[in-house]
Amino acid sequence: MNTNKLPILPPNFDIETKTILKALVKANKALAELKGYSDTIPNKNILLNAIFIKEAKDSSAIENNITTHDELYRKMSSINYNNPAAKEVVNYKSALWYGYEKIRANKILTTNIIIDIQKQIENDHGGIRKLPGTILRNEYTGETIYTPPSGEREIRDLMSNLEKYINEDYDSIDPLIKLAVIHYQFESIHPFYDGNGRTGRVINVLYLVLKDLLDSPLLYLSSYIIKNKDDYYRLLNEVRIKENWEEWIIYILKGIEETSYSTLKLVKSINNEVSKMTNDIKERLPKLYSKELIDLMFYEFYTKIKYFEKGLGISRRTAVTYLNTLEKEGFLISEKIGKERIYQNKVLFDLVRGDSN
Ligand SMILES: Nc1ncnc2c1ncn2[C@@H]1O[C@H](COP(=O)(O)OP(=O)(O)OP(=O)(O)O)[C@@H](O)[C@H]1O
Ligand SMILES: [Mg+2]
Repeated sequence: MNTNKLPILPPNFDIETKTILKALVKANKALAELKGYSDTIPNKNILLNAIFIKEAKDSSAIENNITTHDELYRKMSSINYNNPAAKEVVNYKSALWYGYEKIRANKILTTNIIIDIQKQIENDHGGIRKLPGTILRNEYTGETIYTPPSGEREIRDLMSNLEKYINEDYDSIDPLIKLAVIHYQFESIHPFYDGNGRTGRVINVLYLVLKDLLDSPLLYLSSYIIKNKDDYYRLLNEVRIKENWEEWIIYILKGIEETSYSTLKLVKSINNEVSKMTNDIKERLPKLYSKELIDLMFYEFYTKIKYFEKGLGISRRTAVTYLNTLEKEGFLISEKIGKERIYQNKVLFDLVRGDSN
């Protein structure tokens, strides 16, 4: 068991080695391409919603909280649908929106915002750890890997040191390198009883927005972490036991590079589908077409009579006619869930689902 105290930031180690700087150039280039393309996208909310749902699902799957897109869709479209795994995903998605709004408004990422994010992820069962006894164990053998700091005072001190490192650029280190340091430090402080991994992954994307590397929170490492899970856990531990900062930072930079390109691909295909459907509707159903209608059709994976009534300012009868026409023309597929009829946007659904596998 390792009882050494967790060192405060900045790391007492050269985090700008030649190899790191090489990987940094590639990561920055990839991220800049993603930012450049996504800046030009007309309807960003459609995109964000789709990406948030995909990320919420991927991030929740790291701890084996697996749900299907079908379950998710049922959960999101009906308040009473009860599936715990899907509920976690929905909570994670609201935590993302919440964090994004906070960063946009405040331009600062504080401990309090982080605490609020974790609360949303854990559905109010949150807050800084007060009791000792939290231990990170090997998933298979149960053997103790790491005992994080305990005691609310110590945890809060470490968090405030981290908060400074996040918000104050006193060291002029590139933000992508800092992101790797921040993620390591946050996970090692492990301030909460649960949800530290998910909260840490939300912090990653918020940090990119905070540092203006992205305008919108589009880049998520969760699917990369799932694919390279063993290295992820090994390296978190090796920073601590053998100061293997270099490999850890390169792991994160590679993740940023790879994920920027795969996200760029997904963003492009979502964008193409939105414009394709927009043109199809303009052509085949010109009387129905409006920008608001397209928004409503893509806002979630599904839409409802109520949303059409409200969003378009039309009567229930007209809303039903619109939706039926869109279904007849093959743009939506409807299904009755509980008492309500839900209209699914299959194109968007399939795109995001296909990308998750
Ligand atoms: N040796 C380690 N040192 C520091 N942090 C670690 C170590 N091993 C695992 N972690 C972090 O702990 C997280 C898991 O903590 P916790 O169960 O509180 O979070 P979660 O969000 O519920 O789970 P998950 O991240 O698996 O979805 C991992 O995602 C990882 O970031
Ligand atoms: Mg957990």
